[in-house]
Amino acid sequence: MLKDSIDTIDRLTVICFSPTCTSRKIAEAVAAGMTGISGGTAGYADASRQIRTIDLTLDRSDSPIVVGAGETVVLGAPVYAGRVAPEAVRRLQRIKAAAGAVIPTVVTVTYGNRDYEDALVELYDLAVSLGLSPFAAGAFIGEHSYSTPEMPVAEGRPDTLDLADARIFGGQCARKLDSSGAFAPFHIKGNRPYKESSRPASDTSRTAQSSSGSPAKPAPSVPLTAEGCPLCGECVRVCPTGAVSIDMNARKVLTDPTLCIHCCACVRACPAELRTYTTPFTAFLHEHCSARRDPETFL
Ligand SMILES: Cc1cc2nc3c(=O)[nH]c(=O)nc-3n(C[C@H](O)[C@H](O)[C@H](O)COP(=O)(O)O)c2cc1C
Ligand code: SF4
Ligand code: SF4
Repeated sequence: MLKDSIDTIDRLTVICFSPTCTSRKIAEAVAAGMTGISGGTAGYADASRQIRTIDLTLDRSDSPIVVGAGETVVLGAPVYAGRVAPEAVRRLQRIKAAAGAVIPTVVTVTYGNRDYEDALVELYDLAVSLGLSPFAAGAFIGEHSYSTPEMPVAEGRPDTLDLADARIFGGQCARKLDSSGAFAPFHIKGNRPYKESSRPASDTSRTAQSSSGSPAKPAPSVPLTAEGCPLCGECVRVCPTGAVSIDMNARKVLTDPTLCIHCCACVRACPAELRTYTTPFTAFLHEHCSARRDPETFL
């Protein structure tokens, strides 16, 4: 049985999976808005002792993450194919609510300006299944993982406006938490059952064309490294799934296609800009999904 409302936010914990950092930025801005902290576009977690961030992007362990009484949680995850990124689901499943504790939770998803489809209801349902008490939800926009300088898609987002929206939403969440009936059912856009998941990357051996001419399936390839790579290892470090390794004898960067989730963290992180991921989605998204979409929030 849930309480009607929670009087104070004692501890605020952002828990996220965010290979290219946009979901993390949004979740931290929402958290900052909840505590009334304003400021620049980064470093919210450092700006206040009240907020801690548990970023699961590079954390491949399976030890439980226990959240307890007095703690409020903001979840952040990216949208992959209209659903919560499967790797984010796996990592967030480590969360355990302490017995008997009510953990007020805000769920946020970040998507690349195409659509979030059923991802927000899916993250809401995941939170409930973990024993959390979601009371607000928001879908925000981040630069698409497949965006390139030549064919940008939501380039630079979340931008100042997005982060301001996220902080305003955080303020609304805090006020809702303070009101009676904070945990009453509320509407979130999306469908149950959720849209079918796309097949895992390793299972997609070729890219088909749908009747509308858009790429129907995720591209099968993995990011490639151009000649001249100094083997600095940054792509190995940032890969959430451990798909990248360096063969020192062959002086080559290797990518395991069975592990790669196409998140493009390695592409963004390569200091020499030698790592690229080519997919027909980029041109499609650039052509059809460039009109600016705005955040949508549900309370
Ligand atoms: C495999 C894959 C699938 C994606 N599917 C979608 C999608 O269905 N809709 C969308 O708008 N963006 C989609 N994106 C873009 C990401 O949701 C977007 O870039 C997000 O900001 C990435 O979050 P992150 O920075 O936390 O990694 C996809 C990205 C990847 C890598
Ligand atoms: S990050 Fe770029 S330069 Fe460094 S090892 Fe990887 S591909 Fe090479
Ligand atoms: S190798 Fe694949 S999974 Fe690893 S960072 Fe690059 S795109 Fe992401």
